[in-house]
Amino acid sequence: PQRLVVLVSGTGSVMQALLDAVADEAFGARVAAVVSDRAEVGALAIAEEARIPTAVVRPGDFPDRRTWDEALARTIASFDPDLLVCAGFMRLLGAPVLSRWPGRIVNTHPALLPSYPGAHAVRDALAGGAKVTGCTVMLVDEGVDTGPILAQAAVDVRDNDTEESLHTRIKAIERGLVVNTVGRMVRDGWTLNGRVATLGQPRHED
Ligand code: GAR
Repeated sequence: PQRLVVLVSGTGSVMQALLDAVADEAFGARVAAVVSDRAEVGALAIAEEARIPTAVVRPGDFPDRRTWDEALARTIASFDPDLLVCAGFMRLLGAPVLSRWPGRIVNTHPALLPSYPGAHAVRDALAGGAKVTGCTVMLVDEGVDTGPILAQAAVDVRDNDTEESLHTRIKAIERGLVVNTVGRMVRDGWTLNGRVATLGQPRHED
């Protein structure tokens, strides 16, 4: 099986869906470790309960951004991942991580990119009056939510939605989208042609 390292910052419901999925051997991957930029978040508790190795690499424990990036890269590398999955990881990845696993880092975002990138996608979609939003699974590049799109799913906005109610409905769709997309990547590979990512093509080789 391929080795996934999952990066988290929060409650971990998307990570939980991945843990459930990889329990089936046919999925083709296992979660080698869960790495967080914050201590004491729900995602870490879930991972520990599932007896998955965890690590916390907090920016506040390092003198500057670059040193944190390098420590994060070293920590991730110690788990020897084939694929990195950001599941509610709320920081930008720097060059030390991006250059070590080029084209092998997946992120999920609660909006239909390129609309509403950034840390407040659900709030921004509501404030922008969007009638349809959703979620996007993409490869990570050096921009903020600008990487090649792998998969998207739409969610209708309701007139009485709050940020919380809308995010809850997005996450319900998002969990399945992440599991499906990562599963296809693991089993069938993907290709990249410029900015166009295609799933289910001959296996991606370094
Ligand atoms: C998900 O909706 C994910 O798309 C979002 O955080 C949530 C994580 O939920 N990520 C971002 O906004 C990244 N910019 P979870 O902690 O319950 O899995």
